[in-house]
Amino acid sequence: MRYSDDIIEEVRVKNDIVDVISQYVKLQRKGSSYFGLCPFHNEKTPSFSVSPAKQMYYCFGCGAGGNVFTFIMEYENFSFGEALKFLADRAGVELPQIEYSKEAQAQANLRSSLLEIQKAAASYFYYNLRRENGKTAYHYLKNRGLSDETMKKFGLGYSDKYSDDLYQYLKKKGYSDELLLESGLFQADERKGIYDKFWNRVIFPIMDVNSRVIGFGGRVMGEGTPKYLNSPETKIFDKSRNLYGLNIARTSRKKQLIICEGYMDVISMHQAGFTNAVASLGTALTSGHASLIKRYTDEVLLLYDSDEAGVRAALRGIPILRSAGVKSKVVNLKPYKDPDEFIKAEGPERFEERLSKAMNSFLFIVQTRESQYDLSDPQGKTDFYRDIAARLLEFEEELERNNYIEAIARKYGVGMEELKKMVNQLAMKGTAAQNYSRPREVRKKEGTRESGVEKSQKLMLTWMVSYPQIFSVVEEFLSPEDFTTPLYHRVAKMLFQQARGEGINPAKLLNQFMDSQEQSEVASLFNATLHLESPKEQKKALTDTMIVMKKASLDHQIANLAPDDMKGLQELLYKKKELSNLGEQLQSLNISFE
Ligand code: GTP
Ligand code: MN
Repeated sequence: MRYSDDIIEEVRVKNDIVDVISQYVKLQRKGSSYFGLCPFHNEKTPSFSVSPAKQMYYCFGCGAGGNVFTFIMEYENFSFGEALKFLADRAGVELPQIEYSKEAQAQANLRSSLLEIQKAAASYFYYNLRRENGKTAYHYLKNRGLSDETMKKFGLGYSDKYSDDLYQYLKKKGYSDELLLESGLFQADERKGIYDKFWNRVIFPIMDVNSRVIGFGGRVMGEGTPKYLNSPETKIFDKSRNLYGLNIARTSRKKQLIICEGYMDVISMHQAGFTNAVASLGTALTSGHASLIKRYTDEVLLLYDSDEAGVRAALRGIPILRSAGVKSKVVNLKPYKDPDEFIKAEGPERFEERLSKAMNSFLFIVQTRESQYDLSDPQGKTDFYRDIAARLLEFEEELERNNYIEAIARKYGVGMEELKKMVNQLAMKGTAAQNYSRPREVRKKEGTRESGVEKSQKLMLTWMVSYPQIFSVVEEFLSPEDFTTPLYHRVAKMLFQQARGEGINPAKLLNQFMDSQEQSEVASLFNATLHLESPKEQKKALTDTMIVMKKASLDHQIANLAPDDMKGLQELLYKKKELSNLGEQLQSLNISFE
């Protein structure tokens, strides 16, 4: 599926980026740009900038950046297609009917029908709770302390006692059995035919970040098994990529997200004012959840149940979050079982107090390890310290590691130097660290360090965007082929084409990058600041960059030459020799950055 470049560009141009972003972020004008608090990471002083001239945004704090499409994709968690539709609607642009492949058409239809069915079911359940038949359910929820407002906010409902009334209701709306079975709301067997999955339960609709209903949880009222029934995964419900309550929590603008175990915990926390609570719906926390969380915050509080299973869940969750770059702290709710019970018994202020006493996740791990050893026995004690020393090796940064060594030495009454020695010995053996996986983020950074050549190519692109007037000089010496990094090559090709035609237009160029990773990389190119003092310095930097690039480009061509192409090789070697002349030639040029 693909819309034409023209229509994409029309939608972009009709959605002024300052107008659009102002609907989400409070912006203030400073010079030629607008600034505000970045919605993609937490900060106290504004480093999020929006340029009306470039029609792009960029955050100097976290590196998020792009055009108006990128912003909507990131903020609303939309695909490119969804962002395009959203902005087309906003600007009153009618998108042409496009030719889907049959299969894509069928998939899109299926998804939207499934969403429609969930929505219809949600309003059916909602209505049930509020009529005579739903009285028991309503009182059940009231007794659990929920206000009418809370029930409404979470769209709570009730599935009636009949075993097929939802089925009948949706059949009347014309949905086929096949589709209804895909919705996860029904079961089928040979004797009974198709019947409702949920009956005589209070219903919790599960929404995605955009508040679209994608599934349900249903609880028995009182005792009974299973206590909760949940929708199975469907084409629109991926349990490992959705968190209950995130549609509300993401707008809470609190520093952390609170992660807990269940529906009722989320709801009672929200009712008590902790609107940043989410739950991972009876499944263990996955890396999909972690990267979803990372979009909104880099610190979470874990509020798992105060039982063994809760501790295990926390221990499992901590490294998963850490791999995604999310720090975690663990909250102790004892003597209460879960947040819901705590709040009911002690109230929001005491709850807040517990949150503020959350334990650093590493110290929490150490504490749980402690119970595995007999510390009154010298051998047990030694084994315990070995265990901890091995874990301390995870901290690559010495300062951080020493801070933890200090904290542990203090808490357990061992000498700091001794513990340090133990860690260093283990490090030298080089075995211990292998048992623990290092955060993936760190590894990635090490692997992708930019080479000098990449840097030059990037710098050149930044220049071309910031000072379009240098293009005539650049064009004389460089071509897009001299940008050997694949992404930069693509950008260069487009920039050269724009410069030769309608003029350089970075926001338009970004339309071509639909992958959000690429988008922010390209956006950062267009927003980098150049620290150049005098015109002389500018000229020197530009010419040096051209020469570095040209040399790398010739090396690249030589490396890719057919082995028997002697003539080609000679030509390229000759060109390389000529590079020194090029330097002089460039110096004598009259280049202006003004
Ligand atoms: P309440 O008893 O209503 O307060 O429940 P809770 O929110 O305290 O739930 P609990 O701690 O028992 O379980 C946490 C979460 O695990 C629930 O919100 C459900 O998502 C899930 N869960 C609990 N019991 C069941 C069950 O019997 N089956 C399934 N599939 N999931 C369950
Ligand atoms: Mn509970």
